[in-house]
Amino acid sequence: MGGISIKFLIPIFSFILVSLFINVLGETGTNREAPHLIIGGVGGGGCNNQYCSTPPLTSQRPPHPPPPPAVPPVPPPKNLVFVDQRLAVVYPAIQKFKSIITSDPLGITKSWLGSDICNYKGFYCDTPPDNKTAIALASVDFNGFHLTAPTLDGFLDQLPDIALFHANSNNFSGTISPKISNLPYLYELDISNNQFSGSFPTAILGMNSLSFLDIRFNFFTGSVPPQLFMKDLDVLFINNNNFMQKLPDNIGSSHILYLTLANNKFFGPIPRSFPKSLSTVSEVLFLNNMLSGCLPYEIGFLKQAAVFDVGNNQLTGPIPFSLGCLENVEVVNFAGNFLFGVVPDVVCALGNLVNLSLSDNYFIQVGPLCRKLILSGVLDVGKNCIPGLPLQRSVAECVAFFAQPINCPFMPTYTFIPCLLPHFSSPPLGLSELAPSPS
Ligand SMILES: *[C@@H]1O[C@H](CO)[C@@H](O)[C@H](O)[C@H]1NC(C)=O
Ligand SMILES: *[C@@H]1O[C@H](CO)[C@@H](O)[C@H](O)[C@H]1NC(C)=O
Ligand SMILES: *[C@@H]1O[C@H](CO)[C@@H](O)[C@H](O)[C@H]1NC(C)=O
Repeated sequence: MGGISIKFLIPIFSFILVSLFINVLGETGTNREAPHLIIGGVGGGGCNNQYCSTPPLTSQRPPHPPPPPAVPPVPPPKNLVFVDQRLAVVYPAIQKFKSIITSDPLGITKSWLGSDICNYKGFYCDTPPDNKTAIALASVDFNGFHLTAPTLDGFLDQLPDIALFHANSNNFSGTISPKISNLPYLYELDISNNQFSGSFPTAILGMNSLSFLDIRFNFFTGSVPPQLFMKDLDVLFINNNNFMQKLPDNIGSSHILYLTLANNKFFGPIPRSFPKSLSTVSEVLFLNNMLSGCLPYEIGFLKQAAVFDVGNNQLTGPIPFSLGCLENVEVVNFAGNFLFGVVPDVVCALGNLVNLSLSDNYFIQVGPLCRKLILSGVLDVGKNCIPGLPLQRSVAECVAFFAQPINCPFMPTYTFIPCLLPHFSSPPLGLSELAPSPS
């Protein structure tokens, strides 16, 4: 609730949110997990509307700057005049953070001098939601600054008016202070591609305004608290860490657009309850984990999905015909699992598909529409057990796989199509099969 009202209060918020989605959408299907992919904010600029000033460039400074004063370069705050008391409050925390930075190859912190905090490189000011006449530090954008510091403690948690904190591709390490849950306006937190370690920062659960969380490409370990998946986030990127846990049943809030758990060690089945709560999700990236069990036919309820990627897991069973209901889907990756059976033609009929990757499984048959997609390069069925197609597994390998019987629950659901498709129909289902069960 708090998060929504703040978004409407401060114009920069909606501006940046819009640019965020444009940036993310632009990345669909290409390098979606790249460590340097800047998704939050307006990459490198922080914010650039009328409320935010751009940091001064060296070339814009007077040609003959006055000689450096004899006094120490960083005077104590009592000698400085700040345009607002709120900036005087954050000044010591910024200077203390500057003093623990051990590497600054781009010379960023040279600009972190004096009282004009709103013109420090990476710092952006705006009117805070609680006082229309005040000026506060609203946003920090260190994306790509390559700064090295042993911790963010005593810095991030001491910026009471911060709304956006972006620090992609730096060398920040340590753990995240529990005090960040006291930051009332913080709604975008991006600390991706750093050296953070330890268990998931549980303080994040207490951040009521948070809608964007990106902790990709760090060294977090242990498990993610299930409450995280119940938070009302738009974006959750926790890929490329060392999280190891069973996929919780209640995964995904009703508003989430991007859900990326890839390259961790999530295990267990994809819960039957999961897709129904994710009717808005655009990208589901679960690749390179250890997910097992059969695909629930409920994945057919991911109505808005453009990307569904569960490649390189240990999933088994057939592809549910319900996948043919994902009319927006462009990229589907099931490669590198233990899936088998017939590749449903209803899936190959999807009009927006650009990449359907089913290689390295145990499929035995493809229909006429799927054969067309193979010819057009959209569908890859290499390394399966399909007679007559090139680059298949050996007969011995296929025989060995099918010698181990695999039973999926709710088998009749696999041919059920829970949407109206003019050229396809499915047998009706009993109620018992439709009722979600705890997986
Ligand atoms: C709002 O901010 C201005 C500028 O800092 C300050 O003078 C004023 O007292 C503040 N108003 C309230 C109600 O805090
Ligand atoms: C982190 O530091 C290492 C060693 O100095 C350097 O090679 C690497 O490029 C740095 N990473 C970033 C993202 O700045
Ligand atoms: C299709 O997706 C697979 C799995 O993500 C990937 O390996 C392959 O390069 C993609 N093919 C094309 C043509 O983009």
